[in-house]
Amino acid sequence: MKRKLALMMVAAMTMASVVGCGGGSDEAAPAAAETETEAPAETEAPAETEAEAPAETEAEAEAPAASGDVIRVGFAQVGHESDWRTAATQSAQTVFSAENGYELSFVDCDNDSAAQLEAVRNFIQQDMDYIIIDPIVSTGWDAVLTECEDAGIPVVVIDRTIDDSDKYVSWVGSDFKVEGLACGEWLAAYAEAKGISEINALVIEGSTGASATIGRTEGFKEIADREGWTILDSQDGDFTEAGGQEVMESYCQSYAGQFNVVICQNDNEAYGAMTAMDAAGVTYGVDGDVIIVSFDSNKPAVQLVLDGKLNATFECNPLAAPTVDEVIKQLAAGETPEKEIYMAEAWLASEDIVSSITVNGEEQPIIHVTDEVLANRAY
Ligand code: AHR
Repeated sequence: MKRKLALMMVAAMTMASVVGCGGGSDEAAPAAAETETEAPAETEAPAETEAEAPAETEAEAEAPAASGDVIRVGFAQVGHESDWRTAATQSAQTVFSAENGYELSFVDCDNDSAAQLEAVRNFIQQDMDYIIIDPIVSTGWDAVLTECEDAGIPVVVIDRTIDDSDKYVSWVGSDFKVEGLACGEWLAAYAEAKGISEINALVIEGSTGASATIGRTEGFKEIADREGWTILDSQDGDFTEAGGQEVMESYCQSYAGQFNVVICQNDNEAYGAMTAMDAAGVTYGVDGDVIIVSFDSNKPAVQLVLDGKLNATFECNPLAAPTVDEVIKQLAAGETPEKEIYMAEAWLASEDIVSSITVNGEEQPIIHVTDEVLANRAY
């Protein structure tokens, strides 16, 4: 921050302020549109950096966050792989809008870690006021976060965690291990209530290296080991519907007749797994042979829980942006935000058969999905 403040003072003394320069508001267009029409950060970034470098220096003179002028935020988003991601992106674009005093530079990194590092480096060159990162993978961050620190640009991490550096102001997201533990605890209670003595599970993991995958896998495995369940296989479905379908098609061939549980690490994978099981003649859900669960709890998945096609879903809340807005306002006011901020999340099930579970010593409700519960879902 010191270096940035010094730059701001120098700039203020040497040049007049220029309003509305930098970033380019068209960058805040929806992720899907961007990725369809342009390559991610790698191709667009160098041109932006070269063209806009002088203007960014001028923008420094305005001390935007402190003066109430436009706040320039760069957001390096994971990609557009899932409904959850779309909800998170839309929330960010709403919160960091011009109406709310922001200029958002949004980069859809299309699940490419190198592109994401490059996007962050371009934000540094553009001298953003704040950088938001949803890290595709949890490692490989210390060098670029050091560069952000040296440039005096506060970084807020959202959703997934960074494990090899603490050079960020705040992280806002979910406890993925708790989500995995909740899934396991619910399955243990459900199996007991239903008189199911043997669990043979197939896991469709999220993207390899993502903290969401690591935490959910660890949490579920901890309960599986305690209960003596068999995890027949655990493969990467990349958090996509196509990935879930592909993995499940292969599972249906390799483990035909051997499994009674499918754990999908997000909703979209569950949709793909259902398509594969339909094609293979495997029944699932409340009236089927296979218990199927998902993580995320987007509205379409909650509808499937209501319909009895999905036995349960474990929420991952995508609406971090309003909390990031609060963090930025705290920073602008010279306050110190909390280092870790956890999103509130709920566990939802189709049958009213397990009313609560205990996770890490804390009793937590299992919400029985009704029409009213579905109607009240925010995303
Ligand atoms: O990091 C959060 C995970 O990423 C969500 O569970 C998944 O849907 C998304 O792609």
